[in-house]
Order: sequence, then C-alpha cells, then structure tokens
Amino acid sequence: MYKTIIVTGGAGFIGSCFVLQRVKAGNNVINLDKLTYSGNLENLNEIKSAPNHVFVRGDIGDEKLVKELLEKYQPDAVINFAAESHVDRSILDPDVFVKTNVLGTEVLLRVVKDWWKNLDEEKKNKFRFHHISTDEVFGTLSMDDPAFTEETPFAPNSPYSASKASSDHFVRAYHETYGLPTVITNCSNNYGPRQFPEKLIPLMTLNALAGKPLPIYGTGENIRDWLHVEDHCDAIYEVLTKGRVGQTYNIGGRAERNNLFIVNKICEILDEIKPRSDGKSYKEQLTFVKDRLGHDLRYAINCSKIEKELGWKPKHNFEDGLKETIQWYLKNEDWVKNIQTGEYQKWIEKNYEERQ
Ligand code: NAD
Ligand code: TYD
Repeated sequence: MYKTIIVTGGAGFIGSCFVLQRVKAGNNVINLDKLTYSGNLENLNEIKSAPNHVFVRGDIGDEKLVKELLEKYQPDAVINFAAESHVDRSILDPDVFVKTNVLGTEVLLRVVKDWWKNLDEEKKNKFRFHHISTDEVFGTLSMDDPAFTEETPFAPNSPYSASKASSDHFVRAYHETYGLPTVITNCSNNYGPRQFPEKLIPLMTLNALAGKPLPIYGTGENIRDWLHVEDHCDAIYEVLTKGRVGQTYNIGGRAERNNLFIVNKICEILDEIKPRSDGKSYKEQLTFVKDRLGHDLRYAINCSKIEKELGWKPKHNFEDGLKETIQWYLKNEDWVKNIQTGEYQKWIEKNYEERQ
C-alpha cells in the first residue's frame, strides 16, 4: 500500500533503522537529511547500492527542494523523523530547535499540503503525513503517577520537548484545518545500534571503554521507559499502514529503569564481555555530576491503545537488547572512531566542563 515513502532524517539513529527496514522490505525510500552532526551516511552502508533507496542531502525547511521531491517521486507517505533531538544541546542553544523542529516542520507540512490537495481523490485519501514525536511533550511524572496516555495534557519542560510539542500541535492543526491525513506517534526513549554517543547508553558504554568517568546527572534516580529502536520502527510502520487518520499513538517498552540501574548494568555487561585490564569493575568509573537543568524525573508510556488497536508489541527484552547494543558498539570500532571528530570533542568538553 505505502510503496513509496519520503523519509526525513533518515541518516540519524531512528530514521536510519526505519530506512534499513523498509528498503530491505522492498519499499521505495527517498531519504531527505541535512546531515547535521548526528546524521551519518555510514548508518546506511548496508543499502549503499540498493536501487530502491535515494539519498538527498537537504533541509526540511527548503520549500523548493521538498516541492521538487514530492512532484518527482509522488510518494504515498511522508514520515518526518528530522529533528534536533538532544535535551542537553537544547538547554545550551535552543534556537536551532525552534528552526528545525518548529519552523522546519511547519514548512514541510505546508509544502506537502499544497501538493497533496491537488491529488486525485483515491491517492489523496490514502496519503499519510506521519510525524515522529516523543513522550517528553507530556512533561514529567512523579514516582507513583500513572503512565502517559494519548489524553495526557502537554506540559513540556525543556526547550527540546517544547519544540517537539509545538510541532505536534502544527501537525494536529494541519489535520483539523486543511484535512491533511496525519498520524503522530509519541515514543519513549530508544536504544540500539547507531545511536549518537551523546545519549546515555552509548555515552556511558564508550566512556567506560575509554577509561573515562561515567557522569551521572544528579542522583541517578530519574526514570526513562526504554524501547529498542527496531521495535519503535515496527510500530511506526503499523501506525502508518493501519492507524486511524488524525490520531496519535503512544509507543513504549513497558521497561522503566532508572539511570543508575542502567549505568550499573552497562558496567556489569562490560565486566563480563570486555573486562578492564586491571581486573577492577567499570563501576569504579561512576561519577555523580551536577544535575541537568529542569531534569524530568520520570517518563512512562501507557501503550495499550497501539497494542489493542493494532496488535503491536515490543519483541526485545531490555536486558538482552542492552547487551546486544553494547556488543554492536564493540564490533563497530570504525563507526565510533569516525564520529568522534573535532565537533564531537567540542560538545563533550562544553557539556561536561560545567558539571565539575
Ligand atoms: P538523531 O539526532 O539521531 O537524528 C536526527 C536526524 O535528522 C539526523 O540525521 C539529522 O541530520 C537530521 N536533521 C536534523 N535537522 C534536519 C533538517 N533541518 N532537515 C533535514 N534533516 C535534518 O535523532 P533520533 O534519535 O534518530 O530521533 C529521530 C526522531 O525521533 C526525532 O524527531 C526525535 O524527536 C524522535 N524521538 C527520538 C527518541 C529517542 O530516544 N532518540 C524518542 C522518541 C522520539
Ligand atoms: P538522554 O539519553 O539524553 O535522553 P533524554 O534526556 O531524552 O531522556 O538521557 C537519558 C537520561 O540519562 C536522562 O535522565 C539524563 C541522564 N544522563 C546522565 O545522567 N548523564 C549523561 O551524561 C547523559 C547524556 C544523560
């Protein structure tokens, strides 16, 4: 049904996983990505010569380019993964989050809507604009609050989540105002291969191996609900092909873990599969540092809507998935080396210097 798809942000962590899955499954994928610091063509090496994948370097806010792609490829769907995605970066420099996540998404919506409205009825009804969003739009939970549902009011606390909440509102407004057939998915924290090592799991894994401190913000009691990236991408395809137009779907792993548990687990896995040369545990490297500003205490997703309506369920168990992910980082030394460039070093110095 959804044979030809324009994917934005398909060189990033989640987008590349989705592109790999769909290209291997036989969809035609046009991949529009600006290749910011977190976009990486090496993520797409496996499909380098696939005839059903076209990579285009460009910005979702480039009206002319987006219009050309729509006219040339006549997609059945546009899936918007492109975003600035890191909370700590949004605290240090919110502007680019507004530019891409808010303004960029609105331009993309407008250009898609203007192209879509002239399609014939059948193609018009079938078309989907699928926006990829986060559970962070709902704000934070206390330890005993019930998990976020699709009805939980938005209460974003970081510039990142505020920009994502804003983009979600624009997607909703384009559906309500112009009838654009949209769907939105709000997912919890993802983990898995190819995640840029500014995020918790790859950062701690690579710091541990490099003999560096493992910087835990605050007390480490903050909870996230972890989902394997492949499970997220399976869910996205289910919603794209079977979800109800105009709806939002929460996606989560029912795997709430606190940060301290996760970092300890990473250390235990490494102690087993790649022990330190001095025989001590990686746990020796644990360091408590100054907390993140406005640090959300807990995220948890109630995903019964997608489970009941679409029959989706995560396939990965968190502890096994974490071990496989760590093994991926150990096996892909070149991938790691190639992204630990000057730009990456500058970020690490800037973010962690202030936490001493
Ligand atoms: P990422 O930072 O790894 O990838 C983002 C990609 O978007 C990169 O390839 C980048 O080059 C591209 N991009 C950035 N600005 C662009 C622009 N203006 N035009 C075109 N391309 C641009 O992020 P990710 O973790 O893969 O997240 C993808 C999406 O999923 C985001 O929308 C994010 O908000 C959402 N999300 C992420 C998580 C998570 O845990 N990582 C959880 C829920 C939702
Ligand atoms: P992160 O991977 O940045 O995702 P998000 O902020 O979108 O949830 O962070 C996950 C959790 O890990 C979050 O509570 C902040 C914490 N954290 C640390 O304790 N130390 C770190 O160096 C990083 C990057 C994150």
